[in-house]
Amino acid sequence: MKNFFSVEDVVNVYDLIKEAITIKKNPYGFQHIGKNKTIGLVFFNPSLRTRISCQKAAYNLGCNIWVLDLHRDSWKIEMEDGNVMKDTQEHIKEAISVMSLYCDILAVRTFPHLIDRDYDYNEILFKKVLNYSKVPVVNLESATLHPLQSLADVMTIAEFRPFFKSKVVLSWVPHTKPLPHSVANSFSQWISKIEEIDFTITCPEQYDLYEKFSDGVSITYKQNEAFLNADFIYAKNWSSYMNYGKILCHSYDWMITEKKMKKTNEAKFMHCLPVRRNIVVEDSVLDSPYSIVLQQAENRIYATQIIFLKILQSLS
Ligand code: CP
Repeated sequence: MKNFFSVEDVVNVYDLIKEAITIKKNPYGFQHIGKNKTIGLVFFNPSLRTRISCQKAAYNLGCNIWVLDLHRDSWKIEMEDGNVMKDTQEHIKEAISVMSLYCDILAVRTFPHLIDRDYDYNEILFKKVLNYSKVPVVNLESATLHPLQSLADVMTIAEFRPFFKSKVVLSWVPHTKPLPHSVANSFSQWISKIEEIDFTITCPEQYDLYEKFSDGVSITYKQNEAFLNADFIYAKNWSSYMNYGKILCHSYDWMITEKKMKKTNEAKFMHCLPVRRNIVVEDSVLDSPYSIVLQQAENRIYATQIIFLKILQSLS
């Protein structure tokens, strides 16, 4: 594996999930591969899980690691080419090139601006990172995709359903701010690679995801119908794709409640975190034994570790 941008960089999703589950059982078994290697983490936006799970994954592999919160701890970065840099101090071209000289893998979170759909969906910023980096690049959440989260999510489902056979529902939920589409896009993209899973997306009208990421997926605007016989409910807010970056539904009727969960097949509740309690999901669901959000968060370590390992192996 050279770069890890999306599920399209994975040869066989089933094998990768198995390998992630295996490395979880023996996390320190590959420290010889990481010896004298350095991983750099660069964040254009805040993070709790991604940042710390990457650090833990790197330590497990015996790697050195450095982290830069670019939005907070560095020079103001110029993203555009040809601008007169009166208000910015360092161009992304030098910033990424230099940082890539200080590591063997560069892992980067870019996020969308949710203003210009073409700019975000063409992954202009992440493409610059790929272009300027002199070492392999890992996507820690780009404008449209969050593949390490999705790998942890499908790994978590596999731990409960080793043969995957299940009904999985991705449900849009309310939020107070317009959020990226990356978790939903990516989850849909990864789940669609697993034939045994019966996958449905439920969302209000005008919240359909970009069809490239939801091609062939069953979509319903009736949340109650979608929940019937579900084995996993994955809750996630996203802003509108059609009316780009806008909040079109302000109703809290889409919140995940205990009453709605009772319609399911004792479904596990999933969310990538961070989650706003009693807006996205009721306390009683999140605190119930059906909630597997902590398993998902823990699996972020092993999802990341298997990707770092594959890239490190390709270097030697
Ligand atoms: N789920 C996730 O990516 O969390 P952070 O934004 O805290 O990294």
